[in-house]
Amino acid sequence: MNIRFLEFEDKGDERGSLAAINGGKEVPFAIERVYYIFNTAKNVRRGYHAHRALKQALIAVSGSCRILLDDGKERVEVALDNPLKGLYLDGLIWREIFDFSSDCVLAVLANAHYDESDYIRDYQKFQSEVKR
Ligand code: TYD
Repeated sequence: MNIRFLEFEDKGDERGSLAAINGGKEVPFAIERVYYIFNTAKNVRRGYHAHRALKQALIAVSGSCRILLDDGKERVEVALDNPLKGLYLDGLIWREIFDFSSDCVLAVLANAHYDESDYIRDYQKFQSEVKR
């Protein structure tokens, strides 16, 4: 699977770190929405969906989590554990997010507003859409 990570520059100084993300620069799309997942309960696994058209960048701005990515052919697990590292997702990829550290804040930048019709929440349906 072709997995693309994004690297953000640390523009910090002796006071501490600072990362800046501009749509169309550090992430390859115009940012239309930001959401974040935090205070995740122990042993939670969430996601369990794919998107038809949405482009996203996932960043563990605090703590860490793991992400299962499934393109219908291959299943790969990746870790997010660094605020200077983003996972870029585009296209039909089933994702599940787990192993959240108690301090994890997972920020997600997206190129479109929330739209339930862009979700595939059924794994069998995901597989049949991938094969098409
Ligand atoms: P949900 O899709 O269950 O999250 P996940 O797929 O990560 O497990 O989303 C939880 C709730 O939040 C659900 O009621 C939809 C809502 N929501 C929004 O209103 N806007 C958003 O941008 C997102 C991602 C979710």
